[in-house]
Formats: sequence, C-alpha cells, structure tokens
Amino acid sequence: MALSDPQITRVVAATPATIAEAAALIRAGELVAFPTETVYGLGANALDSAALARIFAAKGRPTTDPLIVHVADAAQLDAIVTHMPPLAERLIAAFWPGALTLILTRRSHVPASVSAGLPTVAVRMPAHPVALALIRAAGLPIAAPSANRFAHTSPTTAQHVYDDLAGRLTLILDGGATNIGVESTIVDVSAAHPQVLRPGGVSLEALRQIAPDIEITRRYIKAVEANGEALPAPGMLLKHYAPRIPLHLFEGSDTAVRAMIRKTALNLIAQEQRVGLLIATDDVPALADLSVPQVQLGTLADLESVARALFAGLRDLDDQPIDVILARTFPPIGLGLAINDRLLRAAEGKVTHCE
Ligand code: TXA
Ligand code: MG
Repeated sequence: MALSDPQITRVVAATPATIAEAAALIRAGELVAFPTETVYGLGANALDSAALARIFAAKGRPTTDPLIVHVADAAQLDAIVTHMPPLAERLIAAFWPGALTLILTRRSHVPASVSAGLPTVAVRMPAHPVALALIRAAGLPIAAPSANRFAHTSPTTAQHVYDDLAGRLTLILDGGATNIGVESTIVDVSAAHPQVLRPGGVSLEALRQIAPDIEITRRYIKAVEANGEALPAPGMLLKHYAPRIPLHLFEGSDTAVRAMIRKTALNLIAQEQRVGLLIATDDVPALADLSVPQVQLGTLADLESVARALFAGLRDLDDQPIDVILARTFPPIGLGLAINDRLLRAAEGKVTHCE
C-alpha cells in the first residue's frame, strides 16, 4: 500500500488473540508495532523484501541504515547467520533473551535490504513475552527498527508509536511502557576484535565480564557525510533521537553543571527565550528558583529509572511551548553510557564542559 493511501491504525492490548492476528498480518507482509523490553519495534517479515521496503517507507528511513532481526529461538538464528564465533555463543548464553544485538555474518537467502547490502546481519532475541509470542506465532524472524519516524526519539509506549506512525501501519500491540527504555546494546562480533557499536540496555561492565577486551566505538558521523551508498558505521548518525527543539547538553561535576545550567537559563530568559530543563531530581534544589518547564528523569543514583524515563521526557519537552532544552549528562557507568549517547545525539554532538 502506498503511503499516499493512509491505513487505519488500530491500537490493541496485547492478548493471545491480538498476537495471533498480528502474526497473521506479519505473515501477509504487513507492518505491526510491538513492545520489546527496550523500546517498541516496527516489525515485518525479515525474509520478505517487499515487507522490508514497507518498514523503510513507513519510517522515512534511508535504505542505507540496516535493520535488526528479532528471533525467538536458536533454530531461527541458525537459519539467518552462517557461523557463530565462540564469543557470540558466550554472549548469547549470558544475555539472551535480552537487550543485546549481535552483528554476525548473513546467510545469502536473507534479503540484503535487511542489512543495507552489508555481508553482516544484526540479530537479537528480545526478553519481552509479547515480542517472543509474536515471533513464535508468526514462525518467522521479524525485522524491527524502533517504531519512530526516522531520526526521531524512540517510542517507549504504544501512544508514542501512534503519535509518530499512525496511518502508516495496520496494528500496534500495546504491552504498556517498556521496562528498559533505551535500545539494545549492539556488539559487532563478526570481526577479529569485538566492538560495541551502540551502548544500550546491557552495560559495558556486564559485557566485560564475558569479553574483557571489548572496545566501545567512539565514532559519530554527521548526516551529510552519510549520504553515500552504505554507511561506513551504521547507527552512528549524530542527528538521531533528536527532539524538534534544540537541546544543549552540559557535562562536568554536579555543582558546575547546575551552576552553568542556571546561568545559561537566566541568560536565555533575559533574551526572551523560553527554556525547558531535562535534569535529575538531585538537581532540583539548586535550580528551584527557575520557574520553567522541567522534566526530572529520576535520581543520579538510579540510572535504570533515568533510562526508563528518558525518551518520554524528551517527547514531553518537545510538546511544551519552549525554544530550547537545557540537559545534563549522567554518570558514565551502567546505563549511563547509553543515556549519555542518546543525549549527545539529541544535542547533535554539542556538549558544554563545565568547570
Ligand atoms: O532495542 C533495540 O535494538 C530496538 C528494538 C525494537 O529491538 N531496535 C532498534 O532498531 O533500536 P534501530 O533500527 O532503531 O537501530 C538498529 C541499529 C541501527 O542504527 C543500525 O544502523 C544498526 O542497528 N545495525 C543494523 N544492522 C547492522 C549491521 N549489519 N552492522 C552494523 N550496524 C547495524
Ligand atoms: Mg532507531
């Protein structure tokens, strides 16, 4: 169906009956959004090129940006990758089902469009009962990017999916708010040295228990550089997870960050700019005199709660009558790496270091 011909999008609670209906839609080449433990995915049959093309069209996503294939068991994994490096086996034993995506070598019968023509394919087994039941009922691996418009904030509720994609898919399975709130960690195990391509729901510390020498890729590319045939580093686009309202990011000691956010906010207010804050609850006393819209993501001591609240917080601020968002970074431990990565992308790479 062409995009000029909008579909009626239904949002239904995930039940055995609606999961069976969703599975039938997937088998028929349609798109279905479903919850995972990280964010909602926009799913289609991973083995059907026409269905894959619909994903790219619905999201407005360039076909140079490859998709993640979701599987429910070892047989589905074996059917799409050629061989399993020993490290991949160990990571799977430790973290699947879960928020870990592995880059492996793609079998030739898997459509090249799923991985933008790369010889590899990204695979994960999600740890969400609805996602697993849907994949099992479909009897197919399901390709699913996050169910948002391209370069927009990832969805953590069915409502977020509806807000972004209504009219562009048939069915949204509502399984409530997602538990982790940031996307999976992507690890490339297809080359000699394991690399984290995207920090996510499985922490670097946890990965290092299994792969002590794992490195994190610190490479971001601007969209302009990426206008080629294939992305040299897929997923490294800086303008990703971006709110519509410009976001300024501040890092440094808690005291310095609070002082700088306060000073910057007062300067902007003096210039008649409408400011919004994306902060931790711990920051509130130091910023209490600023009566501006604010989202508190939770305490610095509980980064799992911060991760869960992050994308909804960005969407909340986006809906407020403000001109600029001032945000802080979080401690670079545990989920803090993933949180800071998403904030850095939302800020299009600009971060102010505060002393
Ligand atoms: O948690 C998640 O991973 C969610 C849920 C739905 O599973 N999915 C998700 O998908 O975040 P998406 O499409 O928004 O992000 C997938 C990332 C992309 O940035 C893509 O570039 C990268 O994975 N990727 C996919 N295949 C790849 C490959 N063969 N090599 C390197 N990167 C790849
Ligand atoms: Mg995404």
